Amino acid sequence: MANSQGLALVDLDERGIDRAFRADVLEGLSQKQKALPARWLYDDAGSQLFEDITQVEEYYPTRAETQILSDRGEEFAAAIGPGRAVVEFGSGSSVKTPLLLKAIDPAAYVPLDIAGDFLRAAAADLAEKFPDLPVHPVEADFMREVKLPEAVEGMPKLGFFPGSTIGNMVPRTATDLLRTMRQTLGEGSHLLIGMDLIKDRAVLEAAYDDAKGVTAEFNLNLARRINRELDGTIPVDSLRHLAHWNDDFARVEMHLEAQEDIAFEVAGQRFEMAKGETIHTENSHKFHRRSANLLLLAGGWTPVRRWLDKEERFSVVLAEATVPRSAP
Ligand code: AVJ
Repeated sequence: MANSQGLALVDLDERGIDRAFRADVLEGLSQKQKALPARWLYDDAGSQLFEDITQVEEYYPTRAETQILSDRGEEFAAAIGPGRAVVEFGSGSSVKTPLLLKAIDPAAYVPLDIAGDFLRAAAADLAEKFPDLPVHPVEADFMREVKLPEAVEGMPKLGFFPGSTIGNMVPRTATDLLRTMRQTLGEGSHLLIGMDLIKDRAVLEAAYDDAKGVTAEFNLNLARRINRELDGTIPVDSLRHLAHWNDDFARVEMHLEAQEDIAFEVAGQRFEMAKGETIHTENSHKFHRRSANLLLLAGGWTPVRRWLDKEERFSVVLAEATVPRSAP
């Protein structure tokens, strides 16, 4: 698979193994605190399980953000104005994107995604719902600067990054991404970004450890994926899903904890875990108004407005790529 810049997005070896996945897993399992990049959670099974998570009672972010996007359309329209090229970072979900597009009367829609299949499906879906809206999908890794289609070059841009996906990144990576988005969109553009809020620890931990065990399945699927794709022998039944609030770093962490001493192989390499040892699999950072603003500012974006759902669980922030002024 190649993107618009002609770069290979998935690099398979002669046995069909994803080289980047193998390298990340072998490196991550070799560290003192075992850790795997969260993006590997989202294979087909994992993406489906995440869809299921958005339906569980305890997982409030999707419902809260959707409520904001459906209730505040008029305010978005007034703050953002018509005629924008909406550039979405990640393929649009079937629910959230139409709510925004309906509200603001955009001139074009540009979904960016690394996964071509999802991208084409999302683009086709949107084109059907908005027959008069030009849709220009771009297959690209948005963690790097993306060259936008010529058709939208002269248009004012609105970046759209819902889901509090920014919270999956540690602040250093989040800042890099925000700066990259600024380069992709250009000075004077705007960004509408979902950012989940700090709240009661029990509510946060329950959102990432639901009673039905859907999130546990989502997390354990990563171990199963390693077994499937990398000749792994991880005893999945000996692992337990853990979600806990790290108050110093303001994030919910997901781990897989060994319930007994275990040893296993992955791609021919041997690993051990002592009882109680964990593999860190995902972070979900949460924000206060000021920490959200500080992160955006560090990334080159000046916050101009924010909206909360009725229960004040989630925020959607509008920020502007203003010209930096010299510091006083
Ligand atoms: C996809 C990043 C929005 O962090 O809330 C949900 C992923 N992980 N439950 C989040 C997730 C476990 C989710 N995001």
